[in-house]
Amino acid sequence: MSTLAAIRGFKDILPDQSRLWRLMEDKARDLALRFGYAELSPPIMEKTELFQRGIGEVTDIVEKEMYTMEDRSGEKITLRPEATAGLVRAVLEHNLCEGARPAKLFCFGPMFRYERPQKGRLRQFHQFDVEVFGDVGPYIDAEIILLLHTLLSELGINDLQVVVNSLGCPSCRPAFREKLTSFLSERQSSLCPDCRRRLEHNPLRILDCKNEQCRSEVMIGPKMDQFLCLSCKDHFQLLTTVLTQVNLNFRIDPLLVRGLDYYTRTTFEVHSGQLGAQSAVAGGGRYDGLCSKLGGADIPGLGFAVGLERLFMLLSQADSPKESGPDYYVAVLCPEALGPAFELVQNLRARGLKVEADWESGGLKSRLKRADKASAQRVIMLGPDEMAGGQATIRDLSTKQQWNLPLDQPQRY
Ligand code: HAM
Repeated sequence: MSTLAAIRGFKDILPDQSRLWRLMEDKARDLALRFGYAELSPPIMEKTELFQRGIGEVTDIVEKEMYTMEDRSGEKITLRPEATAGLVRAVLEHNLCEGARPAKLFCFGPMFRYERPQKGRLRQFHQFDVEVFGDVGPYIDAEIILLLHTLLSELGINDLQVVVNSLGCPSCRPAFREKLTSFLSERQSSLCPDCRRRLEHNPLRILDCKNEQCRSEVMIGPKMDQFLCLSCKDHFQLLTTVLTQVNLNFRIDPLLVRGLDYYTRTTFEVHSGQLGAQSAVAGGGRYDGLCSKLGGADIPGLGFAVGLERLFMLLSQADSPKESGPDYYVAVLCPEALGPAFELVQNLRARGLKVEADWESGGLKSRLKRADKASAQRVIMLGPDEMAGGQATIRDLSTKQQWNLPLDQPQRY
């Protein structure tokens, strides 16, 4: 019988990768807390309707990428393809954004999208997601972009491009949409089949189609910035001024639209040339209409998500230190030493020391090899002589010095 493999596009995070994973999560959590954000962990499944209404019916995610099923009561539920919709639902359900104070939240966890797996693209991937509710911006827009940028640079990733754009609001976007649709309708024959379909339901998505022909058409077409209303223009202008003031390097990309339908005004992405075709390590933006669309009050919102697998790829290309080895490796050299060794190990761990041991006795040579492989700093040797004298032999693996300590005095180790 052949052994079973993991599902396509789903990956194990192996022991030698988990140090970097912990580093990413610790850094992200510390930074979010430093910026005044609180952790909220929503469930990984929600009612399908939440994503249909939140992300938009005519998006790749909702049309073809969701893991949707019926539970035993016949309710349609979906493994979350992103975290924003769930966080909006939680904020509304628990009234987390009442009064003058905005709710500033973050979460970590797996997301699920049935995409074609390739380098940097998985079907189960992880995000660090940050959201703010109840602040119209644009200073908070700048703060959230700065938080993302600070995270990446504190992790030592510098070769990054930050791109920003404004998608306008419901009062100015329709005119742009109309103009774009009529411009592209005259060029339908040059568009790819996907974009010909988008022309009818979601023409803005054509702006970030990767097809060369589509790209060259949209390059010469109308741009959103020519259609922004006065307050959207002011919002974007102030955002770019603030980002410039704090010396954050960014580029305005009028074609940046993003793959989710909830965005209004500010959108942004961070790209790295080292990631290949899937170059976006993070993306986000403002979604002022989303809370009311999901049945709540008219609360403005914005946020971003970092793809942790992509961040991991960037970090593992940099030289990162290895996990430090144990303080002690306990070498049990005869069966009678197993009991005393077990007690000593528990006592040392209770003192906060990092200790490793193998629970079967063996020869000194093989045990020293194990200690070396584990990168232990010191070995505690417990053989017949040590048992007779009630003393352990300690060896420092770097200085090769050796000494004895009583077995019943773990505080001296
Ligand atoms: P998104 O651009 O769909 O935005 O995803 C954010 C990041 O998740 C991407 O930049 C990428 O690094 C990572 N990502 C997305 N799909 C995959 C995949 N299939 N495999 C590996 N990594 C992937 C959102 O999800 C929005 N909810 C972000 C947001 C928060 N907007 C406002 N608030």
